[in-house]
Amino acid sequence: MTIRFEPLRNNTTFAARVHGVDLAAGIGPAEVDTLEEGLARHGVLIFPDQFINDDQQQAFIQQFGPPHQAVLKEVASNHPHFYDIGTTDYAGNPREKGSVAHQYMLANLLWHTDGAQNQPPIRLTALHARVRPPAPPPTEYADMHAAWETLPADMQRSLEDLVVEHSIYRSREQMGMKMSDFSEETLRSRKPVYHPMVRINPRTGWKSLYLASHASHVVGWPLEKGRKLVEELIAHATQPQFVYSHDWKLNQLVMWDDSWTMHRATPYEGSHPRHLRWCAVRELEAV
Ligand SMILES: [Fe+2]
Repeated sequence: MTIRFEPLRNNTTFAARVHGVDLAAGIGPAEVDTLEEGLARHGVLIFPDQFINDDQQQAFIQQFGPPHQAVLKEVASNHPHFYDIGTTDYAGNPREKGSVAHQYMLANLLWHTDGAQNQPPIRLTALHARVRPPAPPPTEYADMHAAWETLPADMQRSLEDLVVEHSIYRSREQMGMKMSDFSEETLRSRKPVYHPMVRINPRTGWKSLYLASHASHVVGWPLEKGRKLVEELIAHATQPQFVYSHDWKLNQLVMWDDSWTMHRATPYEGSHPRHLRWCAVRELEAV
């Protein structure tokens, strides 16, 4: 089985369809290395027609690193490593509007990087479409390497040594949530963390911005000044020329490299259920 990457957009290699992989049959170390190379070069990989269950999805992503524990009690699933994305939980029960779980789904409309509020952060995410409405909302992905490359050199220099505070409370604050909406266990375990503003991909050497809705402010700067910079850079990085918009098909798996991409859900008001299964692996060390 030869793996081939097919870039999906003109004039850029960001986002590619993967040919020659059957995740239900499993993959070995050589395929993992090829896919790592694909993730480093393309950022977002689309695997069409993958008829997999939770165990197969988990076995696949676990070959890339330590599994992320799904610790948010507010949106707990029936599996220690999975979250349910969409309009229902794993059992098909609709999420009530106004519930904390529903608010978490709305927070996915913000540009974000999965797990940036953790240390070590999430490295890779795999999302598999299990129930698809007739007209599903696209998911959008931003190329944070291209965004970095287009910044003026003096601005790049001024950003390179900055450190940013990230926390889940910053992203949820933007959704109107209050600290009292979180369980005590979440509050105890979800302290702010610190990441560099600029990251370097170990395979390609490419630099990229590392931002998210969880990014609050620049360490050592006045809060509002740092927050303004974070917002300006997110606005820069999410201009249309840096964004791939993904149209979901049933049984498709999309895997992305969180270290140099951001993503967001787009609004869905349809009545047909929509359900995707989410799992991830984290970095081996603090970033
Ligand atoms: Fe996400």
